[in-house]
Amino acid sequence: MLPGLELVAESEIRAKLPEASLQESLRGKVLFGAAASPDRPLALRTVDNVYVLAGRFPVGPRRAHLKDLESTMARLDLREAAAAALGRRAGKYTSFYVNASRAGKHTYSRFEAAEAAARGVLARHAGWRPGSATEHDLELRLDVVGDEALLSVRLTPPAFRFRGAGRAFSPAALRPPVAHALVWLSGPEPDDRFVDPFCGSGTILAERLPYPARRVIGGDRSAEALAAAHENVAGDRRVSLQQWDARRLPLSSQTIDKVVTNLPFGRQVLNQAEIPAVYRAVSEEIARVLTPRGGAVVLTEQVTPLEIAARDAGLAVEPVATLSLKGLNPKVLRLRYHSRTGREEPNGGKR
Ligand SMILES: C[S@@+](CC[C@H](N)C(=O)[O-])C[C@H]1O[C@@H](n2cnc3c(N)ncnc32)[C@H](O)[C@@H]1O
Repeated sequence: MLPGLELVAESEIRAKLPEASLQESLRGKVLFGAAASPDRPLALRTVDNVYVLAGRFPVGPRRAHLKDLESTMARLDLREAAAAALGRRAGKYTSFYVNASRAGKHTYSRFEAAEAAARGVLARHAGWRPGSATEHDLELRLDVVGDEALLSVRLTPPAFRFRGAGRAFSPAALRPPVAHALVWLSGPEPDDRFVDPFCGSGTILAERLPYPARRVIGGDRSAEALAAAHENVAGDRRVSLQQWDARRLPLSSQTIDKVVTNLPFGRQVLNQAEIPAVYRAVSEEIARVLTPRGGAVVLTEQVTPLEIAARDAGLAVEPVATLSLKGLNPKVLRLRYHSRTGREEPNGGKR
């Protein structure tokens, strides 16, 4: 998953795969043991991909150590993991591709590590043949992190994280798994009246729809973005879409349970100088439309203007995650009402 979303993914795994045992979280990865069928983890939505971990072993830092990597790989039997990925046993013409990442100090590149791993795979699996980055039956992933390597086999097809080929995306669209993480953090409930005031192409709305909801409402000032949202979500009768200015939402006060949104923050969407005023107006609108028990989950790179604006609007702000996204580090913040005294209750208002 996107680095920063590990805890969200853990929570989704706990809820959706109760039989799975969480083992360890690394940057951008959650390792878990699942006894049930390999299809079950494909229900996860905050992850970009699902893999079967086939091996975890030490690696040295120098190019000379690639020989050891190759011979360790030559001892690793990948047939069971390959069968899980292919839905059948790997056969004579099974092509594979090793996609490698490397973090830490090594005198070899990730490409050299991938080549060494591929030589080991070929030595062990008679009949398998090397594929290319774009054409292969099996994708093997080699992650070299410091003095350790993880070798896994990918279960999910490339379109998994884009939810198939059918979705329309606007230029500033969120990746569906990130949108899903925001939705998951809002704690979907069947009675929710849910709003994304800056819905763009409707990625967040679309990710809310797999769960029961009373209403799912989206708006944007761009007609073009709304046309994409229409394509993505308007088929669901719980959805309504509207062209609006989020600074003046056409929604009655205290009628919304959850606001989840990806605020405009990059230069591609909003002029930087406009941000404090827009965030102020939007925070006031969020505070106005939310029911007293409601809450918001917001993604932005402009954390300070949002914190100031939300607090001035009477909302408590809690940072929940920092992401690594396209070279930026936007934060996910949870907004909710202060207690009636205007101060936060020490236990977060829970009894
Ligand atoms: C970061 S994008 C949202 C992308 C969306 N989450 C998606 O996945 O497609 C921010 C959106 O805010 C919209 N926007 C900017 N200012 C607005 C305003 N005052 N009222 C409503 N929408 C606005 C832009 O048109 C843009 O679609």
